[in-house]
Amino acid sequence: MQKTHHWSLNTMSARPLVAGNWKMNGNPQSVEEFRKMAEGYTPELAAKVELLICPPAVFLAQLANENSISVGAQNCHSAVSGAHTGDISAEMIKSVGGTAVIVGHSERREGYGETDADVAAKAEAAWRAGITAVVCIGESLEQREAGETIAVVTEQITKSLPDATTSENTVVAYEPIWAIGTGKTPTAQDVADVHKALRDSLVERFGEDGSKIRLLYGGSVKPSNADELLNLANVNGALVGGASLKADDFLGIAGAYLNF
Ligand code: 13P
Repeated sequence: MQKTHHWSLNTMSARPLVAGNWKMNGNPQSVEEFRKMAEGYTPELAAKVELLICPPAVFLAQLANENSISVGAQNCHSAVSGAHTGDISAEMIKSVGGTAVIVGHSERREGYGETDADVAAKAEAAWRAGITAVVCIGESLEQREAGETIAVVTEQITKSLPDATTSENTVVAYEPIWAIGTGKTPTAQDVADVHKALRDSLVERFGEDGSKIRLLYGGSVKPSNADELLNLANVNGALVGGASLKADDFLGIAGAYLNF
């Protein structure tokens, strides 16, 4: 289960990614916490891991291009512009310096009825604008207890990723819904099993490039469990919620990469 290389292929050149999803948290003063993160993001750490922070969209412009940490959004509409009150387009995210957008988070799937097809359309919108799609998938507790996890996430990854998915334009985040914000995580073996199944599915569909698509784990990642979770085969980073709000916690998670 443990591995010596983070990537299936030695040709993999991209660094692992630790992404922070602030959800609906933060304020104009959060830029200070973001600056603290950048202060701790030493060249030594940057050589090992890429960092991305996804604040609420109203703070995107303030944080983007502020320092060496990339900034992205938490959602976008699939259209370029138009009569979609309250929505923002991938082009708008790009225009203020955003480099990525999370699509299909379970909180959007559950709270707003977003389907796999909606998520795929948003991923295509991200590419159209020239930013990376961070596509989220994950099973519910009920599905986990029914032994359906692998079947559910395999179907989600298949339907949520458009055919033009590449390791350059897309990152996949596996987030078991029951592990989000609960302090509970799957066992290391369970995470490794799911990521192996996802990797197999990606390679089957996208060939060699499928072995390079970064697969993040998300759900109650914190400094104390980062060493174990991030060092698993086919885990190429983390999508972090609560622990991405504090520089010390976020850097503590990213810092796991200094130990491998
Ligand atoms: P927590 O890290 O707070 O469990 O949230 C995970 C998540 O949903 C990130 O997108």
